Amino acid sequence: MAESNITSPAVRYDPTTRKRIAEGQKPAIAAVGLQHYYGSGDLRKQVLFDNYLEIYPGEIIIMTGPSGSGKTTLLTLIGTLRRAQEGELYVLDRPLHEATSADLRELRREIGFIFQAHNLFDSLTATQNVRMALELAEPNGNRSEQTNRSKEMLNVVGLGERTGHKPKQLSGGQKQRVAIARGLVHGPRLVLADEPTAALDEKSGRTVVELLRKRAKEDGATIIIVTHDNRILDVADRIINLVDGSIRSDVLVQEAAIVSQILMHCDVFKHLTPRGLAQMADNLQSEAFEAEQRVIREGDSGDKFYLIRKGRVAVKRGKDEEQVATLGEGDFFGEMALLMGEPRNASIDTLEETVLYSLSKEQFENAIAEQASFETEIRTSLFDRQ
Ligand SMILES: Nc1ncnc2c1ncn2[C@@H]1O[C@H](COP(=O)(O)OP(=O)(O)OP(=O)(O)O)[C@@H](O)[C@H]1O
Ligand SMILES: [Mg+2]
Repeated sequence: MAESNITSPAVRYDPTTRKRIAEGQKPAIAAVGLQHYYGSGDLRKQVLFDNYLEIYPGEIIIMTGPSGSGKTTLLTLIGTLRRAQEGELYVLDRPLHEATSADLRELRREIGFIFQAHNLFDSLTATQNVRMALELAEPNGNRSEQTNRSKEMLNVVGLGERTGHKPKQLSGGQKQRVAIARGLVHGPRLVLADEPTAALDEKSGRTVVELLRKRAKEDGATIIIVTHDNRILDVADRIINLVDGSIRSDVLVQEAAIVSQILMHCDVFKHLTPRGLAQMADNLQSEAFEAEQRVIREGDSGDKFYLIRKGRVAVKRGKDEEQVATLGEGDFFGEMALLMGEPRNASIDTLEETVLYSLSKEQFENAIAEQASFETEIRTSLFDRQ
């Protein structure tokens, strides 16, 4: 069996990511066993624990998690604003854990920062604040051309009328938009945004999200947005949840939706709630098989439930291994042995390259039990109503 060749345990089967890896595309960001501590001596406190992460060019990541879970810390490490202490961290092909100060300076020119505290210069106008990013990224650029580009960018975020205003003459949301224009004006390959839409109304928030989406989808930039704003969740390719300094889940949104749809058609899971389905999708492991490989053998004891994500398999029975059925994308197998506690009642061989999602016996049983308690609860509440 060929295990998924994606190195990060957090990244699941994703046709696009797989294709990129096959084509030799490297991740824009890779973290391997990344840890981080604040303070020293007795006050030393660990805030990031053994994190693995792979993010590809063109991906939009939304990072969520409780206050104090380490989101800003992770973002500032990726943005080179803090030194990586333990583990490996690669950003835009550079190993940050062994980079020189000159490497870091160069790298920063390719990053767009949109941070919670806007860090605008009070003595500079909106245009001048935005132009600062261009001056840093392109020190030998033409000043008047840079001024024009800065004004254009302010126009895009809806501040065309306020280019000559200083931060004190602007509202919180307007300042935030200046910071966004400054973060994007130099066309960065990587955008790191910490709550970029927090102070914005629905309409300005949408404009910003659309800008970020364009940078990712048209220019292949990588975007990481830390946010609690669920109005912008729809822009995410992936949602990463950080809890107590660890990546608790890392979900490809579209893939999770597809898998949930497939699971919903499986009789044994038909009573799961959308949340239960999403949780289950999150527990699935992907396994890739070549053609003509055996997945399960008749007579063996059952330890997994399988779902076919891509490809086809043959179901074979008896001494002669007679083929009794074929199964394809969206079909599942292996549940009978788990439900009945009996040996496998058939063998399964792949007919072509196949990608399967599997669920361990324990997770399968948990899902069934959860569903049962859900049903019991509904019954009780219906009963109580009478
Ligand atoms: N400069 C610092 N020195 C010491 N401890 C810090 C420092 N910055 C953050 N911490 C601590 O590290 C932990 C993670 O903080 P971080 O700012 O990364 O969280 P966060 O997920 O961004 O939270 P929030 O959603 O509130 O912005 C917290 O316990 C915080 O108190
Ligand atoms: Mg924060």
